[in-house]
Amino acid sequence: MKKYLVLFAITGLVAAACGGSEEKKEDKAAETSPATAPVADLSTNPDYTKGLELVGKSDCLTCHKVNDKLIGPAYKEVANKYEATDENISMLAGKIIKGGKGVWGEVPMTPHPQVSEEDAKAMVKYVLLLK
Ligand code: HEC
Repeated sequence: MKKYLVLFAITGLVAAACGGSEEKKEDKAAETSPATAPVADLSTNPDYTKGLELVGKSDCLTCHKVNDKLIGPAYKEVANKYEATDENISMLAGKIIKGGKGVWGEVPMTPHPQVSEEDAKAMVKYVLLLK
């Protein structure tokens, strides 16, 4: 009789373990929910990947982070401030090349004369996607 009780207990444990793995499946479904889909889209956007590569090669990330203010404003804040119009993209690309100050505070952004206008515009397009 005792043997049956032990078997019963084991069956119970196995059932609990199976329940646990079902919960994990639900987590996975949440990861691919529509709320996170735009992030996946961004990584296939050529403006995003090109700009990210250029920003990574330059010194931008010593002063800027995507979500937090560092020495310069968070890229997310910059993206929220400006519409991605041709005018704004040219204006901001000019600031990367020539430097800028007074918009976000008194600390100036150093000029980047070695960055071409084309590359600077690609960096701005990337930044303005980070809303
Ligand atoms: C030495 C630190 C530093 C580096 C390096 C730097 N930035 Fe900045 N950046 C700043 C600061 C400070 C500001 C805010 C300037 C202001 O208030 O007008 C700024 C502002 C900006 C803005 C917003 C300009 C505006 O007028 O609103 C953009 C876009 C930007 N940076 C992009 C870049 C990119 C791309 C790079 C790399 C090529 C870069 N930054 C490198 C410090 C830096």
